[in-house]
Amino acid sequence: MKSVKIGLLGAGNIGRVHIESLQRVMGAEVVAVADTDTETAAAAREKYSIPEVFSDYRKLLKLPDVDAVFVCTPNVFHKEMVINSVQAGKHVFCEKPMAINAAEAKKMVAAAREKKRILFMGFCNRFNANSRGLKKMIEAGKLGDIYHSVVSVTRRRGVPAIGGWFTQKSQAGGGALIDIGVHMLDLTLWLMGFPKPVSISGAAYSKFGHRKDYVYTSMWGEPVPGGKFDVDDYATAFVRFDNGATLTLECSWAANIPQMPWTSYLMGDKGGARFDFDAGLEIYTEDSGFIADVKHQFARQNNYVDEDAHFIACVQGKEKPLCTGEQGLTVQQIIDGIYKSSETGREVRIK
Ligand SMILES: NC(=O)c1ccc[n+]([C@@H]2O[C@H](COP(=O)([O-])OP(=O)(O)OC[C@H]3O[C@@H](n4cnc5c(N)ncnc54)[C@H](O)[C@@H]3O)[C@@H](O)[C@H]2O)c1
Repeated sequence: MKSVKIGLLGAGNIGRVHIESLQRVMGAEVVAVADTDTETAAAAREKYSIPEVFSDYRKLLKLPDVDAVFVCTPNVFHKEMVINSVQAGKHVFCEKPMAINAAEAKKMVAAAREKKRILFMGFCNRFNANSRGLKKMIEAGKLGDIYHSVVSVTRRRGVPAIGGWFTQKSQAGGGALIDIGVHMLDLTLWLMGFPKPVSISGAAYSKFGHRKDYVYTSMWGEPVPGGKFDVDDYATAFVRFDNGATLTLECSWAANIPQMPWTSYLMGDKGGARFDFDAGLEIYTEDSGFIADVKHQFARQNNYVDEDAHFIACVQGKEKPLCTGEQGLTVQQIIDGIYKSSETGREVRIK
């Protein structure tokens, strides 16, 4: 089978992760990179031997032999890049979050449907060994009816690239919620079978990011001294779904709480599960008249490589996309609902 030729838009932190992953996937070839920062583009060409680099991504889209595009730019560019890519006949892998709001996400889904191109959402955590294992158990009925989940995605001090695009509403669409809340929201919804959200109550806060004396233990990307911070660094929410199930969420880039792994508790009428981002998986059940806790062990793997291999197989027609644009839109509707509920102080209903 002919190899899938990839054009990558945005060779920043996650863009480079995907180039390295794709270079490990059989049948994939990164043939072009576009980045407005010419030094970043040139460095990618040099380090990864990329044949063609551009500063204007629209030139990359004109390459007839590019089959698919990876969108790895700041959130504000996702909508335009996805729509222009599908209109140029390319399949698309779009990094999370899908867009800066649900109205944009809706247009992206419509454009991909109209052009019959794959719009794959980069929800990499569905490819962890423990999430895939738990999904199988749920599908086999081990938890029964899942009626509630408790999602916690917290960092004690972990604002990314503070002062840069991540912390500006106009560029990112929001803060902790849209950046990391999105990961565990998607994962939990997927495990729950993607029920449709019907109402949302939420609150978002901004307490740390604007501080001149902000101290931190880790940071994704580099800080931009003097840059802007006008987004949330903590959010909490309660979501109701059309099947009667509910979900609570807490999410922080920064909060005065202990550093904890990202966790999702799923409560079913036959069993419960504790999924932990740092490779934990426990099932709470009953066995022969006893209360039983089952701890699962497995090897950790590189979820980006598995995610990219799956996307390539989808482009080749060998697999069906696991993470769809439609699901990305549902996640985005919940995020929008949390922000709106926080602003208005009221529950938001989703039609
Ligand atoms: N799945 C994950 O685990 C994960 C992790 C980190 C980031 N992300 C997502 O990936 C995206 C990028 O994040 P990042 O951390 O790599 O950001 P980054 O700032 O490190 O990289 C973004 C790159 O895009 C380039 N760029 C900006 N505007 C452009 C344009 N108009 N055309 C072409 N290039 C442009 C920048 O020059 C930069 O090199 C975001 O949507 C983010 O939420 C996903």
